[in-house]
Amino acid sequence: MGFLSARADRARLSASARAAQRARELRAEGKNIVELAQGEPDFNTPDHVIEAAYKAMYAGQTHYTQVDGTPELKAAIVAKFRRENDLDCRPENISAGAGGKQVLYNALMATLNPGDEVLIPAPSWVAYADITHFCEGVPVWLPTRAEDGFKLRPEALERAITPRTKWLMLNSPSNPSGAVYSAEEYRALAAVLDRHPSVWIISDDMYEHVLFDGRTFATLAVAAPQLAPRTLTVNGVSKTFAMTGWRLGYACGPVELIRAMARMQGQSSLNPSSVSQAAAVAALNGPMDIVRSRCAEFQARRDFIVPRLNAVPGLSCDKPPGAFYVYVSCAGWMGKKTPQGNVMQEDADVTVHLLENGIALPNGAGYGLSPYFRVSFASSLANLDEACKRIMAAGEKLS
Ligand SMILES: Cc1ncc(COP(=O)(O)O)c(C=O)c1O
Repeated sequence: MGFLSARADRARLSASARAAQRARELRAEGKNIVELAQGEPDFNTPDHVIEAAYKAMYAGQTHYTQVDGTPELKAAIVAKFRRENDLDCRPENISAGAGGKQVLYNALMATLNPGDEVLIPAPSWVAYADITHFCEGVPVWLPTRAEDGFKLRPEALERAITPRTKWLMLNSPSNPSGAVYSAEEYRALAAVLDRHPSVWIISDDMYEHVLFDGRTFATLAVAAPQLAPRTLTVNGVSKTFAMTGWRLGYACGPVELIRAMARMQGQSSLNPSSVSQAAAVAALNGPMDIVRSRCAEFQARRDFIVPRLNAVPGLSCDKPPGAFYVYVSCAGWMGKKTPQGNVMQEDADVTVHLLENGIALPNGAGYGLSPYFRVSFASSLANLDEACKRIMAAGEKLS
């Protein structure tokens, strides 16, 4: 045993961060790389939010605040949940942290004992499994099928629940598949969860406002209100308001859990940045027209990229109903040979081949379902066009 803890060993760099880092390294070597790996809007934070942050700093909001959010921020979050989601809550149900990621981390840190199981539909955002591991829990992947829109079926949920199951992670719209659950689909899952009262649920609504083709958004605690006493609804300003760098996420849940989460944060980072909290108040209380127009832009990019990806022999994907990712099946590339003579055996071989052809993307294994890769279309049309051309050219080199 070396100097580093077993815990440090369990903390890994995510597939998307690895792909983005590799792209930066190759660029530093002078290579031309198109990177569609990072999960963040390419737009800037709206002006009125930046101005609010600037004013807050001059007004002296540069000090420590309450650990899990200022009263102003909690009030804005309560108002947001009531206005947009019909979710009734009070300030004591709210926790704010440095990003949705910290909020999720706090929740799992506060609740998992070694060996507790966390059910994660596959594919899902890598962090759920990584944080679970880190907290000495056991991630249990529940594979979904493209034919089901990558959504968890109630029968699969029923089969997976054991006496050790502590949490079920739900994320709609989903990173990386874009899957969106309707209120009816949530109620079908709730019928299973009603029979298992010891299972708690995280409803990760981070991509709530990136929803296409006029769909309406549903959140679990409202679709199935009987589950609200054991649901943590997670959201944040990162994706909705292009504020990934500000690090501000929040959640609504039962008071006892919220208090325990604050204790976790109190022993790590304390309060989220005071300036970011002031900015988030302006974002949440402010106009939503820019959010809607950016969503329309994402939809146009989706409609641009999906047919081009499907035109590549051996690749296939459906139009995602939400979020800004396409989860592309590369099953048709398995067994094919690269010009260097390497036979593709898994999706990591595919993303290595794509990187050699100038496109940085994360492979599906990290998201729990293979053989796939994830394409983020939170990038300019020019970048997307170039990426599609390079993917087509990479495919043509296979035999
Ligand atoms: C599904 C999902 N949830 C939560 C987050 C966390 O976002 P942040 O920590 O920036 O608020 C992300 C970020 O990629 C995500 O994809």
